[in-house]
Amino acid sequence: MKVLLLGVTGNVGSRMLPALLAHKHQVVGYVRAPAKISPEARSKLDSIVVGSASDSAAIKAAILSHNCDAVVNAAGLAAMTGWTSQGEFPTIFAAVVQAALEAGRERGGAPIRCWLLSGFGILDSPKKPYLLLDYIPLFPSHKRNYKLIKSQPADTLAWSLFCANQMNPKYDKPQFPPSVDTLASNLVAKADAPPAWAEKYRKVPLIGNYLNVMAQAQSYFSVLENCVDFMAADLDKGLESEWIGKRVAVKEKSKLN
Ligand SMILES: NC(=O)c1ccc[n+]([C@@H]2O[C@H](COP(=O)([O-])OP(=O)(O)OC[C@H]3O[C@@H](n4cnc5c(N)ncnc54)[C@H](OP(=O)(O)O)[C@@H]3O)[C@@H](O)[C@H]2O)c1
Repeated sequence: MKVLLLGVTGNVGSRMLPALLAHKHQVVGYVRAPAKISPEARSKLDSIVVGSASDSAAIKAAILSHNCDAVVNAAGLAAMTGWTSQGEFPTIFAAVVQAALEAGRERGGAPIRCWLLSGFGILDSPKKPYLLLDYIPLFPSHKRNYKLIKSQPADTLAWSLFCANQMNPKYDKPQFPPSVDTLASNLVAKADAPPAWAEKYRKVPLIGNYLNVMAQAQSYFSVLENCVDFMAADLDKGLESEWIGKRVAVKEKSKLN
């Protein structure tokens, strides 16, 4: 696929690039500060578009002019709390969604395939209709973003939200090609709720559900390079992916009980 990658200078996006290339995707980098792209990444990108990730019209133009079939958004960073402001991230998320939606419509035919970085908190908790974020109210913008996209029909925008908890890089720098020990096969994945979730502390009166979430959240920390390989590998399936229209949760196989 030809992929427009936003956030290629960031923690996630810089590692997403080698993962996409390893799966034979062509990558157009969309950045606001091209001087920050490493020489190695620069030499591997199909092309570079300079623009703001909050500029929906510019993102749409990049998708259309480079004839991209897919968009991966790793631009912007969710603020940890919403006590003062949620920062620019919700604006970026909305701009990317609108751009991909309109580009798909204008081009006609198949919708744009879209992986959007999101957060662990918007996964379902075992007590419906609550989300994990209702028990640990961190990174609130993910909930706002999920609200925006969840009613979006998959035949207009083929979206998936990647809802990892903290992702820790195994290697200090992006590896070209990615190391063979960092692959999606190290993960188990599930739609809409965390895989292998245990029913811990649920019977403790009043605070049981809170304890349940807090006790388990850390066991969902994952290796960043495994996660980017997961999304890059999934793009191989195009519009046949089982994750379209889903929040996607992962867990390291090494952390399964
Ligand atoms: N890291 C994790 O453990 C983790 C866990 C769960 C979810 N996530 C989500 O993953 C996403 C990426 O996180 P990250 O850790 O890679 O963040 P990061 O290292 O701060 O990277 C953010 C990227 O966004 C770009 N960016 C920000 N505002 C922009 C704008 N207006 N126009 C164009 N580019 C812009 C930055 O470009 P500049 O280099 O120019 O600043 C940078 O490339 C976020 O949505 C985050 O919430 C991360």
